Amino acid sequence: MMRQESEKHAETWVFTKNGKPIYIRPLRPTDNVLIDDLFRSLSPRSIFFRFLRHWKTVPPELTEFLMKIDSKLNVAMVALEKRQSGERVLGLCGILRKPGSEKGEFAVVVRDEWQGIGVGAKLIEASLPMARDLGMKELWGLVSPENTVMIETARKLKFTVGRDRESGFYEMEMHFGGTKTFRFHGSANFSEECYERS
Ligand SMILES: CC(C)(COP(=O)(O)OP(=O)(O)OC[C@H]1O[C@@H](n2cnc3c(N)ncnc32)[C@H](O)[C@@H]1OP(=O)(O)O)[C@@H](O)C(=O)NCCC(=O)NCCS
Repeated sequence: MMRQESEKHAETWVFTKNGKPIYIRPLRPTDNVLIDDLFRSLSPRSIFFRFLRHWKTVPPELTEFLMKIDSKLNVAMVALEKRQSGERVLGLCGILRKPGSEKGEFAVVVRDEWQGIGVGAKLIEASLPMARDLGMKELWGLVSPENTVMIETARKLKFTVGRDRESGFYEMEMHFGGTKTFRFHGSANFSEECYERS
């Protein structure tokens, strides 16, 4: 199948802070082995920060779910290390559309040993225009209050970040135009609700 023009334009080389080249591109339906490998590499801390669940491992159904995401409606971008032996996914950013709306739920994860060198920020920066190009107008994400790195990253990328008094979690919001706000009645994306959506 021909890849969409917008997807081809989204592919780019960038450099980490320590000068390593990484390739950012949309997730492909054939990336399941690479995504499984990313998920298997994550520490419990990263799993919790990403999924807001105290899982020891990421359920394999999540990879299956990701592979079925409709790229005409949702954004899924990966950062890759390209080696002679093959590719390795270093990070994944998902912006899933709330069904039938112009609102997207955003979440990102970077392989533990690659955190803190610019991969997350670059991946999010590459994903935001994709969401806008797909017609999303508002983005929302939920962050654990202990996740100071994500809170700081979101602020630097011009998300509005505020603490929800009831839950204690932080919420990140971005509007591509207009001033409307929205709120999901769910938690981090790839949750059980997302299974229902797929
Ligand atoms: C949160 C996460 C995606 C950020 O990606 P990253 O590649 O580690 O972050 P970056 O290197 O791009 O840094 C972005 C900003 O975070 C802050 N930051 C990064 N590492 C930091 C550290 N060790 N201590 C404090 N702040 C830090 C800095 O402000 C940095 O901006 P700067 O480089 O301009 O100073 C990544 O750490 C991660 O996957 N964490 C586990 C999963 C998670 O928390 N997901 C978020 C769910 S929404």
